[in-house]
Amino acid sequence: MIVPILLILMAVLCFIYFNGTYNENYWKKCGIPFCSRNKYLGPLFEFIYSKKSAFEIIHSIYKSNPEAPAIGVASFFGRALLVKDLTNVQYVLATDFNSFSHRGIEINEGDLLADSVIFNNGKRWKLMRQHLTPLFTSSKLKSMYYIMDKSAQDFIDYLKKNPQYLKGNAFETLSTFCSAAIGASVFGVGTESIFDSPFLKMAQKASQSTLKTNIFFAISNVSPKISKFFGVKIFKEHESFFIDAIKQIIRARERDNVKRHDFADICVSLQKNDVLKDNDTGLEMKPTDEFLAAQAFFFFIAGVEPSATTMHITLIELGRHPEVLAKVHEEIDNAFEKHENITHDVLCEMEYLDMAINEAMRLHPPIGFLSRQCVKDTVLPVGNIKIEKGTNMFIATYGMHRDEKYFPDPNAFKPERFSKENKHNFMDAAYMPFGKGNRICIGMRYAQLQVKAGLVHLLRNYTIRTILDGSEVKYKRELGQLRVSNADLKFIPRI
Ligand code: HEM
Repeated sequence: MIVPILLILMAVLCFIYFNGTYNENYWKKCGIPFCSRNKYLGPLFEFIYSKKSAFEIIHSIYKSNPEAPAIGVASFFGRALLVKDLTNVQYVLATDFNSFSHRGIEINEGDLLADSVIFNNGKRWKLMRQHLTPLFTSSKLKSMYYIMDKSAQDFIDYLKKNPQYLKGNAFETLSTFCSAAIGASVFGVGTESIFDSPFLKMAQKASQSTLKTNIFFAISNVSPKISKFFGVKIFKEHESFFIDAIKQIIRARERDNVKRHDFADICVSLQKNDVLKDNDTGLEMKPTDEFLAAQAFFFFIAGVEPSATTMHITLIELGRHPEVLAKVHEEIDNAFEKHENITHDVLCEMEYLDMAINEAMRLHPPIGFLSRQCVKDTVLPVGNIKIEKGTNMFIATYGMHRDEKYFPDPNAFKPERFSKENKHNFMDAAYMPFGKGNRICIGMRYAQLQVKAGLVHLLRNYTIRTILDGSEVKYKRELGQLRVSNADLKFIPRI
């Protein structure tokens, strides 16, 4: 038995060695520098044993060659490229979408909750995206805003009744608000917001960076074939709980026949159609309870995790910059004094708050890098770089946000960069906390509203003290997301 195992091991090692050497020569022949660190297995393998987040590893590669339009990197059994030049980045994310429509992650058949728009590719992704986009139109969001506002007001009452949450563990506290708000937006509002929800625990567990999930996502990113071979179902343990919950909600909504402007409404109207059809491709799909549950599942995770991170990093930076905090307080107080209620339109007028959030997301983008996979041979315009089908593409969001070419004095927190006068095209192109192009975050505007609703009520009632261990913000080791490791908050009542 030992001999065949040794032979297989040697064959795999030889393959990795030759693949790494071939990749290095391939990129060098194209005139592209190759990242010699981890030259056989690449940055996502490095993540498995490193203490750093994946985005920090990708950022260090981004910085290693300031002038190169792209840097070749290893990728287990394939080939990968870190795209740096802005025109090329735009080309990958938007201009040549047909060649880069794949996210580079492959899910396995039967992984019911992973069958969502984020993990799908090709025709199926297109059909899903078409039918889910109507949930996020301006008018839908406007009519949904009352849900977020109610959750934010209830959150303040919750904090007043539970002062133990005012100091320490701020990320958890902010997550309770986000889970109540997205829960109500997806499942419908009740008379009371739910801050201690089993869905929050599920979302936290599902997005936790465990060894199993890290290995799964790393492998599926670099080699879908291996991922398929092992047939891993990433969200299996949450299936019955979440699908049952969605089924009950849809059936109840069908019975009640009332419009609440939330995701459950959309589910009912999609199911009335019987099949979803893409007229261009002819693809048809049944909007089953399981399919709708998968979408709601991801919306729920995204409504909690990166949204709570956005609130967290904004408050951390505000607490570190009292002069900015004072301006934000002033804008919020003025709005409360002028208007009886903070409606959607009032919120959209708060420009300085918007600038402060944008700047916090520039310094600490909740998703620190983007990925795509080439599905059709093509050529990147700057540097004339030939890209073959199957090549994985990385875009270093964090690296670009901290690049002084686009953002002078990049490590400083300066909301004024995002004022109408200071914003310029170059900066717009390099700023991508929600991604870019056809696969840009579908929930971007929803998330912005939810985050603002929470911050407006929180800052009306509290001021912030940031407790930072050290002189700069550091991050936890995570695969996909950014999480602060050395800062916490104290909420101090203002009145
Ligand atoms: C502040 C909070 C959020 C941040 C920072 C964020 C960020 C992102 C990023 C970076 C991507 C990848 C985009 C790309 O590859 O170009 C993404 C995709 C996505 N996000 Fe968000 N997101 C947030 C909240 C939400 C919310 C609340 C929802 C749903 C309600 C949502 C739904 C999605 C979906 C469905 C995709 C996949 C889009 C596709 O592949 O077509 N996100 N998000």
